[in-house]
Amino acid sequence: MEDKKIYNLIKKEIQRQREGLVLIPSENYASPAVLRCMGTPLSNKYSEGYPHKRYYSGNEYIDEIEDIAIERAKKLFKAEHANVQPHSGSQANAAVYLALLKPKDTVLAPSLFAGGHLTYGSPINFSGIIYNFIHYGVNPKTERYDFDEIEEKAKKYKPKLIVTGTTSYPRALNFKKFKEIADKIGAYLMADIAHIAGLIIAHCHSHPFPFCDVVTTTTHKTLRGPRGGLILSKKDLAEKIDKAVFPGIQGGPLDHVIAAKAVCFKEAMSESFKKYQKQIILNAQAMAQEFVKAGFRLVTGGTDNHLILIDISSFKIDSKRIQDELDKIGIYVNKNVIPFEKRTPFNPSGIRLGSPAITSRGFKEKEAGYTAQLVIKLIKNINNKKIKNQIKKEVKKLTQKFPIYEMDSFGSGFAR
Ligand SMILES: Cc1ncc(COP(=O)(O)O)c(C=O)c1O
Repeated sequence: MEDKKIYNLIKKEIQRQREGLVLIPSENYASPAVLRCMGTPLSNKYSEGYPHKRYYSGNEYIDEIEDIAIERAKKLFKAEHANVQPHSGSQANAAVYLALLKPKDTVLAPSLFAGGHLTYGSPINFSGIIYNFIHYGVNPKTERYDFDEIEEKAKKYKPKLIVTGTTSYPRALNFKKFKEIADKIGAYLMADIAHIAGLIIAHCHSHPFPFCDVVTTTTHKTLRGPRGGLILSKKDLAEKIDKAVFPGIQGGPLDHVIAAKAVCFKEAMSESFKKYQKQIILNAQAMAQEFVKAGFRLVTGGTDNHLILIDISSFKIDSKRIQDELDKIGIYVNKNVIPFEKRTPFNPSGIRLGSPAITSRGFKEKEAGYTAQLVIKLIKNINNKKIKNQIKKEVKKLTQKFPIYEMDSFGSGFAR
């Protein structure tokens, strides 16, 4: 590579990923095959439109690739229709809103404090600027979704669309209950499964179909594919969804990423992928157990999925400091808001951590539990330089025992 500055920074980033413990629940290590697709000349092609209906010539092979990606996505998610073109999870959500809503229409979605995403009507996001979002939260005692509240709000505000989805809710989503409420008021039901797509494929979480009209996801979290989005829907919404993606909100699709999505869907059909997803949950639970044992309070008391949310509101240290100190020793977590948050989103009362990336490295419960112990030790000794250095060494040792992207400096070697 001629550009030494960028070359060296890419090398450093790969080294950081190799030598760090990634506990950010939305991150993962894509396979070399997925990464390779994204570095191909497919990136050069313009292919506005859909397979066999393009605005540009020269799309013979691109059409085949997109057809394969669509067919695999439909099979994988048992969906009647798939659109593989959204550039990201946010784009997928934007396309669904454009397809189903008019500006100012009402939508009922989880609040940011109850695991919601920015695209569920945050006032600083297009969704909150264009549409009228009403939010539901969680029950103050159980910290789980309260279907009485959701039904009450649905009846009161009559949303055209109900959204269920999560970025930080550690429990399973009950699509059937959401559907019962949506049916009572004739609303569409959308599930955003960005975080839990892999778990759903492996039957570690209930399936959004047939309950939901439309399902959006990212392809890069538990699904472990390229950075991107995907929309799955019932047949009767296919035309609306496709038009909303292109020409509605996007121009030319990212054909190199669509090829990578196709590869990721094939990988996700394998038995080893299902085993991997089961291990993700076991590892998240092993971490949860360690935190509980050490006296930490977890939101909802534990986890059903790939993530846990630690409540540090009673601590003197703030979450930003914990995130920063862990970063310095090579452990990556998120500061995150918790239900009924009393601090600010910039310095909230929660630490969110998850198991997808460490499980891709080959961690089992023993190593996941030990990783949690390292986090606990750091939090308890946050001002002790000597102990922090010891933990840093332990992190390095652990990552060397479970290597990732081994073979060359651009990640084409994937240990598992
Ligand atoms: C539930 C959920 N939806 C949508 C998104 C947006 O995905 P992207 O970052 O690809 O736009 C995220 C990302 O964190 C998410 O967690």
